[in-house]
Amino acid sequence: MGYDFDKVINRYNTNSVKWDKTERLFGDKDILPMWIADMDFACPNPVVDAIKERAEHGIFGYTSRSRNYFEAFIDWVERRHDWSIKKQWIRCTPGIMTALSIAIQTFTNEGDRIIIQTPVYTPFTEVIEKNNREIVLNPLKLDHKKYKVDYENLKEVAANTDVKMIILCNPHNPVGRVWSKEELTKLGQICMENDVLVVSDEAHMDIVHKGSIHTPFASISEEFADNSITCTAPSKTFNLAGVQMANNIIPNKELRDSFTNMIDRLYLGLSNTFGVTAVENAYRYGEEWFDKFLDYIEDNLAFLTEFIETNLEEIKVIPPEGTYLVWLDCRELGMDAKALEDFLQKKAKIAFDEGYTFGVGGEGFTRVNIACPRQTLEEGLRRIEKAVNESLIRVGKETQ
Ligand SMILES: Cc1ncc(COP(=O)(O)O)c(C=O)c1O
Repeated sequence: MGYDFDKVINRYNTNSVKWDKTERLFGDKDILPMWIADMDFACPNPVVDAIKERAEHGIFGYTSRSRNYFEAFIDWVERRHDWSIKKQWIRCTPGIMTALSIAIQTFTNEGDRIIIQTPVYTPFTEVIEKNNREIVLNPLKLDHKKYKVDYENLKEVAANTDVKMIILCNPHNPVGRVWSKEELTKLGQICMENDVLVVSDEAHMDIVHKGSIHTPFASISEEFADNSITCTAPSKTFNLAGVQMANNIIPNKELRDSFTNMIDRLYLGLSNTFGVTAVENAYRYGEEWFDKFLDYIEDNLAFLTEFIETNLEEIKVIPPEGTYLVWLDCRELGMDAKALEDFLQKKAKIAFDEGYTFGVGGEGFTRVNIACPRQTLEEGLRRIEKAVNESLIRVGKETQ
């Protein structure tokens, strides 16, 4: 089946957060949106066809999830991640963030403390604070362009009796690490020893670059499976964030029953008609599209890396092992967080996700979304190049 990832699709007037909200959020309609983790590619054809067929039926009453829905997901996880999961372990929520909020409400109390490893996906901070829990930081350490877990600090903070949970980002957005089995084992053991529940957000589990392997945290051992909740969604893999569906894997019956209880209290048990159709067909028939997408992203990454190395010596690419997000070290531009934001938005007319929004360790960095046609990526990079060339930063340097 032919897929044309080079095709530029106009996304304006589709209620797209990335495109239609750009002017409101960034105050300028000419800004090129390369922020939020949402791709500018059309979904796999079998997904689009299945949604059309479902729409043709014309009746959209209360919708449940069939055995086929679960089997498509279970087979995908087995095939892509070599992990055998059972249907009864899966609990569905309208998105991963909902699952994280449910987990926090179910397994911790107000005032309890929850570990996150910054710089990390901004809503982790928000969901903890909105639920009146406290954040405990275990910032990642940057070592020669590679981020690592600070195990010594983790041991110290996890030992605190009011620390009840860690929200792990596996693979890690925004720094692109695909944590190895050894790294996860070390982290998991510290959590087990200190009674800290691991909520493993595996939103980006499928998007892994050549040479890296994603390890689902709970697949490592029965003990880890028993002390964890794994949150997954088709939103990143197949660009289906808008259908608001997530599959959460909870092997431990006691944890699962409590989680289910909260789903029931919130009346979240049913699903969106088109979401169910989309997700089942994506996991069942979307693989060919997905493999081609991965190749395209690898090429985009190579293009971006070469462009930056050749034309933007002040910016360093942190090589991602996974995700379609790239973390750029802009500290050599010599700007503080606000100046860098202004520079990118007002001068380069680019919307990236600014590093400081990802918490401690993010200042001086920015995150670019490369899940777009090459032409869009090149346009974005050229805008930065032009802005740097015209700015006093480089002029000043050259005249020194
Ligand atoms: C690590 C991570 N978790 C969760 C989400 C959001 O997932 P959902 O839309 O399913 O709530 C994202 C989206 O970018 C993400 O990067």
